[in-house]
Amino acid sequence: MMGFAVLLHVMAVVIWVGGMFFAYVVLRPVAAGQLEPPARLTLWAGVFGRFFPWVWACVGVVLATGLWMIFAVFGGMGGVGLYVHAMFGLGLLMMLIFFHVFFAPYGRLKRAVAAQDWQAGGKALAQIRMLVGINTLIGLLTIAVGAAGRYLVP
Ligand code: HEM
Repeated sequence: MMGFAVLLHVMAVVIWVGGMFFAYVVLRPVAAGQLEPPARLTLWAGVFGRFFPWVWACVGVVLATGLWMIFAVFGGMGGVGLYVHAMFGLGLLMMLIFFHVFFAPYGRLKRAVAAQDWQAGGKALAQIRMLVGINTLIGLLTIAVGAAGRYLVP
């Protein structure tokens, strides 16, 4: 069971953080360099519309498998190393940032695209860009903590 939980945990992390990395580092500069606002904002509304359901699923899987490992395998919060506490804290922060993106600027982006208000859409996209950039960095840091933490801190 532990092997299965770790596998699901890491699969969900790869899909979530890898997806953000691709969006931020690869797609963002190409879209910014090649597309005018109407096409670019419509593209991003569509990209997030497809990516965010995966992120919701990843959030659920990461949280469920992580908490299951802590409580069913390691005997609760007192039984885990410092790196697991750090991973949990950073993971919760990533989830809060995602919830904010989903319910605030992403909602505004969708409404702006529907209303063809490219000014408002550009503002919303700029907020999403900043927050996804931050979450990509926190995600990579959390992977470092989760994967290497046990060898670095006793
Ligand atoms: C938010 C709630 C989270 C909880 C409760 C949690 C909990 C755990 C636990 C208990 C382990 C197993 C540790 C061990 O075997 O010693 C683990 C492994 C791991 N977690 Fe998390 N985690 C969470 C979020 C995250 C996030 C957001 C990431 C990355 C962005 C992440 C990345 C990893 C990685 C890379 C491993 C190592 C797997 C391995 O190499 O065996 N975790 N996590």
